[in-house]
Amino acid sequence: MYDKNLEVLIPRQEIDQMVRRLADQITEDFQGEELFLICVLKGAFLFLADLVRYINLPVDVDFMSVSSYGDGVNSTGVVRIIKDLDSDISGKHVIIVEDIIDSGLTLNHLKELLSTRNPASISICAAFDKISRRLTDVKVDYNGIVIPDEFVVGYGLDYAGKYRNLPDVCILTNIGG
Ligand code: IMP
Ligand code: MG
Repeated sequence: MYDKNLEVLIPRQEIDQMVRRLADQITEDFQGEELFLICVLKGAFLFLADLVRYINLPVDVDFMSVSSYGDGVNSTGVVRIIKDLDSDISGKHVIIVEDIIDSGLTLNHLKELLSTRNPASISICAAFDKISRRLTDVKVDYNGIVIPDEFVVGYGLDYAGKYRNLPDVCILTNIGG
C-alpha cells in the first residue's frame, strides 16, 4: 500500500486509542473548566483535530507556528515565532498540543514563553515521544506513545513537506532515497 521506503510503526487504530486515552485523561483532570488548546503547526494539526472531538469539555483552539534557531540539523531550542496566537491566554487553562518531542528544546522554550502571558495553567500534550533523544527535561503531562529513535512520518508528521496525510505513523527507512 505504501512506498517501499515506508514501514508502518503505529497503525491508525493504535493512534486512535491513544488519542481517546489522552482526551479522557484531560476531560477528567479539567472537570468544570474550559480549555484553551494550542496547536503547534504544522505537525499537530491532525492530532488536535482528533483530540478535540474526544474531549468532553468546552474547548477553544488557536494555532501557533514556531521555528527553532539552529544549524539546520540540531535545534538550539531558541524559538522564533512565525505565527503567534490570535488571542490572549491570560487566566486560561492552556494545553500545548505537539506532534512529537525529540530533544525537547523547542517545547521547553515555547512553554516558558507562553508562561509569561499569565495563563491559569499550562500543560503539554504530545502524541509521540522519542524519549531517548531528550537533551533537556520536559514535563509532558499527556504523553501519547513512546517511539524509538527513528525518523517517522504520517499522521501530520512530514519529511520535506511530504507524507503528512498518511493515516499511520511510518518509519522513513531511506531518507532522500
Ligand atoms: P525538538 O523536541 O525541539 O528537538 O523538536 C521536535 C520537533 O522536531 C517536532 O515538533 C517535529 O516538528 C520535528 N521532528 C522530530 N522528530 C521528527 C520525526 O521523526 N519526524 C518528523 N518530524 C520530527
Ligand atoms: Mg513540530
